[in-house]
Amino acid sequence: MKISVIGIGYLGAVHAASMAELGHDVIGLDVDPARVAALQAGRAPFHEPGFEELLRRGLASGRLRFTTDYEELAHADVHFLGLGTPQQADGFGADLSHLRSAIASLAAVLPARDGAATLVVGKSTVPAGTSRSLAATIEQVAGVRLMWNPEFLREGFAVQDTLTPDRLVYGVPDPDVEDDRVALLDAVYAPLLEHGVTRLVMGYEAAELVKVSANAFLATKISFINAVAEMCEATGADVTDVSRALGMDDRIGHKFLRAGVGYGGGCLPKDLRAFLASAEEHGVGEAVGFLHEVDAVNQRRRARVVTLAAEMLGDLAGRRITVLGAAFKPDSDDVRESPALDVAARLLEAGADVRVTDPEALAGAARRLGPERVVAGTEDALAGADLVVLLTEWREYRDLDPATTRRLVDMPRMIDGRNVLDPRQWREAGWEIRSLGRAAAPRGVPSPEATPSVLVPA
Ligand code: UGA
Repeated sequence: MKISVIGIGYLGAVHAASMAELGHDVIGLDVDPARVAALQAGRAPFHEPGFEELLRRGLASGRLRFTTDYEELAHADVHFLGLGTPQQADGFGADLSHLRSAIASLAAVLPARDGAATLVVGKSTVPAGTSRSLAATIEQVAGVRLMWNPEFLREGFAVQDTLTPDRLVYGVPDPDVEDDRVALLDAVYAPLLEHGVTRLVMGYEAAELVKVSANAFLATKISFINAVAEMCEATGADVTDVSRALGMDDRIGHKFLRAGVGYGGGCLPKDLRAFLASAEEHGVGEAVGFLHEVDAVNQRRRARVVTLAAEMLGDLAGRRITVLGAAFKPDSDDVRESPALDVAARLLEAGADVRVTDPEALAGAARRLGPERVVAGTEDALAGADLVVLLTEWREYRDLDPATTRRLVDMPRMIDGRNVLDPRQWREAGWEIRSLGRAAAPRGVPSPEATPSVLVPA
């Protein structure tokens, strides 16, 4: 099929290349000529495992190309909308301006059809009610039909999530009415459906809500375990013990139950706030009022790292602190709402001499903190540190050897903001180590970690 993807950021670029992989003839459009040029040259404008290979395969097959010109899209049968819906500059709500202007530009070039329908498929995360209002504009072009098909891909697993999704959600104006747009989208996703991926058809608003509530739920799960972590710090319990045992209950599960410095990125924080704003607009703000607390717990974890640093160093002014990690999570170079960079900024504000390193996100870190704060290479970044703070759990940091690392720093002090280091091992190598959600080992007394709990599998 002939497909266009409008907005080739993270979501759109991966979607475009994946659709070409499925055998479709795809054209991706963006208003940013530099992004279009990079993709057309086979260069990924972001770090995403497996994406560049997929992109190059698509380009080489002749089934994938990129443009800035809407006129070139007119021939496509299906148009996907992958535009960003960031948080509004002056409030919690989602900024839908990119989406609205794309719809207007597309409407201007779409030919009126009286045969097979032209399908426009929204993939962006939007507040409930958006599809119905966008449909009122775009469906004025004869033969055009709008569907909403939210995307659930995770950065770092974007290709895998697009080609083997947990489920496909189709939002239509009225799910009780037979609708030929469903068959059209089925034809696009035929290879996935043949592999047994479940497809669910529902009303526009339900499809929109599936996506925002999924992200709000994930954020809530993380903040829940981080709230428990606060309780652990107060009582001397170890949050990793609590989390491991909790997750063994099938109804709860282990995923998104890792306590630490909390969630960030371009999705969870802004989608949670957009959900709050949208609920207020619909007069049901109270129903999701607890999400304010989810956000507050998340912010408190960042502040807690600064308090811990002060507990370990006393006055932070002039102390050399190395922050390991800048991306909001490993296997990404995305620093939007990154907990690591936020903590680094707070430490800087407290007067510390902060150095940040990351395997992929140095450019983003330099933009936020200034180039003088950024060091390439873990060894160089660790040199002379009074305190090391691990905030993004890249494999390279999880695998650090305490004895070798000790020789690189000035003072062997560590804060593990992601609970990925074994505190006992680090203490045995002479480190003072503190972890979020685990009490400090009392001096002169064996650390709690030194006595592994019975009944806990290795
Ligand atoms: C998230 C959702 O997981 C995707 O399903 C969704 O499609 C995407 O947003 C989106 O709306 O586009 P992503 O932003 O890539 O995906 O990141 P996640 O893997 O969800 O991680 C978010 C944050 O939570 C990261 O900062 C991560 O470090 C943190 N996290 C995750 C924890 O602190 N603890 C955990 O146990 C899990």
